[in-house]
Amino acid sequence: MSVENKNNYPQLKEAAQLLQANEVVAFPTETVYGLGGNALSDEAVDKIFAAKGRPSDNPLIVHIAQKEQLHTLVTNISETAEKLMEAFWPGPLTVILHSNGTVSEKVTAGLSTVAVRMPNHPVALALITEANLPLAAPSANLSGKPSPTTAKHVAKDLTGRIAGIVDGGAAGVGVESTVVDCTGEIPVILRPGGITTEQISAVVGEVAVDPALLSEHEAPKSPGMKYRHYSPDAPLVLVEGSSAFLNELVRKEQENGKIVGVLTTLEEKSDVFADCVIEAGSRKELQTVASSLYDALRSFDEQAVDIIFATTFAKEGVGVAIMNRLEKAASNQIIKEN
Ligand code: TXA
Ligand code: MG
Repeated sequence: MSVENKNNYPQLKEAAQLLQANEVVAFPTETVYGLGGNALSDEAVDKIFAAKGRPSDNPLIVHIAQKEQLHTLVTNISETAEKLMEAFWPGPLTVILHSNGTVSEKVTAGLSTVAVRMPNHPVALALITEANLPLAAPSANLSGKPSPTTAKHVAKDLTGRIAGIVDGGAAGVGVESTVVDCTGEIPVILRPGGITTEQISAVVGEVAVDPALLSEHEAPKSPGMKYRHYSPDAPLVLVEGSSAFLNELVRKEQENGKIVGVLTTLEEKSDVFADCVIEAGSRKELQTVASSLYDALRSFDEQAVDIIFATTFAKEGVGVAIMNRLEKAASNQIIKEN
């Protein structure tokens, strides 16, 4: 085996030392795996963008382990931000606040604001504490691919491109954190995620949603939301309708010689006929769909399918985040029965 192909799985202490030396290391969080680097170092942040092949105008989230760390990074913390952090940290909530200029400009992509979150994962918290650094960390996938929910997903995308992977088992939530802009009077959801709009509204009352999330014609305020994302190798098309309607679409593709994959749920699986049928959780418990969605999308890459049809979900609770990711993966291609 060549040295380049050897996966490197450091223990916590060694990983923390690598981070202090401005190397980049992947680590588990409760949402997805992150690719961490010293948020105070241009050199480390450059390595993150290079490893992912990420456009440099897309800013990164800074991960902290103690509330006190926040005060070293931001100014003018609003009351709504305080309430949200109190309610949901550690957890899948990212707050956008005014940067005090401490983090690398490359983290914020030149914006005057910075995104911060405290992950609810013992390994992530221990690593940040041991490194004694705020960690800039995007999801640890190649830009454009589905986010990684296991160390194996990270290895598939980034082996040879990063200093190591801390393996902490499968991530639980499965979709990324909810990003909330807390710099104005009313908090604005820029990216739906693990914490639902309903949960946020229960804590702070009025919540706005970035219009770009509701219409494909608006420019998103969260720069990352404009890119094609979360995509398996084969084109993906969303299908809203009955299993009979879906089976008919599959049959037509097969008649044209195509190998067809279907992403479905526990409830519909036995009614669907295709070359490769992958189940992503239960429609009755959308959290199970969130936690298996990216693994399911990635598994089509091993099946050599030519096209993938995916079922749709109600945009309620975590279903909003699930549909946001599926719509991006499908570049908004959707076929409706009626
Ligand atoms: O759950 C998560 O949030 C994961 C784990 C690793 O923590 N991280 C993650 O990072 O999803 P990433 O880089 O894939 O997504 C960060 C999102 C992007 O949509 C980016 O545009 C937005 O946050 N963002 C970061 N800083 C921002 C800022 N100052 N203003 C607006 N949006 C910002
Ligand atoms: Mg990402």
